[in-house]
Amino acid sequence: MTTHNLLLLPGDGIGPEVAREVEKILDFLRREGVAGFEVERDLVGGAAIDASGRPVTDETVARAAAADAVLFGSVGGPKWDRVRYELRPEAGLLRLRKDLGLFANLRPAICFPALADSSSLKRDLVEGLDILIVRELTGGVYFGEPKEIVTLESGDKRAVDTQIYTTGEIDRIARVAFDLARKRRNKVSSAEKRNVMKSGVLWHEVVSRVHAADFADVELEHVLADNCAMQLVRRPKQYDVIVTDNLFGDILSDVAAMLTGSLGMLPSASLGAEDPTTGRRAALYEPVHGSAPDIAGQGLANPCAMIGSLAMAMRYSLGLGEIADKLEAAVATVLADGVRTADIARRGANAVGTTEMGDAVLAALRASLR
Ligand code: IPM
Ligand code: MG
Repeated sequence: MTTHNLLLLPGDGIGPEVAREVEKILDFLRREGVAGFEVERDLVGGAAIDASGRPVTDETVARAAAADAVLFGSVGGPKWDRVRYELRPEAGLLRLRKDLGLFANLRPAICFPALADSSSLKRDLVEGLDILIVRELTGGVYFGEPKEIVTLESGDKRAVDTQIYTTGEIDRIARVAFDLARKRRNKVSSAEKRNVMKSGVLWHEVVSRVHAADFADVELEHVLADNCAMQLVRRPKQYDVIVTDNLFGDILSDVAAMLTGSLGMLPSASLGAEDPTTGRRAALYEPVHGSAPDIAGQGLANPCAMIGSLAMAMRYSLGLGEIADKLEAAVATVLADGVRTADIARRGANAVGTTEMGDAVLAALRASLR
């Protein structure tokens, strides 16, 4: 049996709590002889700052690059609010994304039938929702230079962030989106702000060119990012794949998450370019929710997004698509049975904690493997 090398970076806040549930699933699959895993653990974010003074060390980055997949929890929290900007917990995640070249961030927003009533939108708007946000992850305003606050002669300060996109960066993320759309409902909506931003003008131009040259069979529409945000809460099921830049993708994916019932449900995959000779690609999988300091350490967090991220790792990095399907089906079963953490609990119903939720998913998975 192949042994898959995983690097687990639980991070801060609820990260370690939800990561534990994923470890239970990996242990189970290993014990049952379903798949072989070698799991290394390491520190990132505030936990790494406490241990080494840096949000991620060179050794951890090297380990992440060597792993078949990185499973990432979450980073950040009030404890590190006063840490220097360059060394804040989030910088650990951003460095991993940049150094591993993880330019393609896939954020599927699927509304499980059992959760249609947990969304803040009406059931008929979200029932059956299945959209995929493809977010560019290593460019744009997150990384553009200059990025600084300078003091002017007047004593005023001036803050600068820089939005930069090159043709190549837009081209490669557009191709990822079109490729994925072909395996889905064959439609791509490209979101930018070409009405006020030069990077939006170039985005629009390059996406159109890639489409005409190689993906004319896929339906393409261009939408202004603000309008896209509005349409997502107005009539979300009009979308299939949404491709957008780093910042708009950050915002639109949080909106999309709430459509599915809870931010606690959304997994994500961050992928690098495929090596043409080995077919290997760097990959990091993380729940879209953050470290949720308000509920951290209380055993209340919903582990579904982290478990869903493991399923994505199995599908995209480990060649374990069938087990991924079963794991996702196990989550759906548990939700349908009414086992819910507080973020998705039915009104008046008892909510379970992180451990019970993980146990229930594990039991459903075990049953489906029999
Ligand atoms: C996300 C998060 C990160 C981001 C933070 C933690 C830096 O919000 O993955 O969506 O802004 O990309
Ligand atoms: Mg975000």
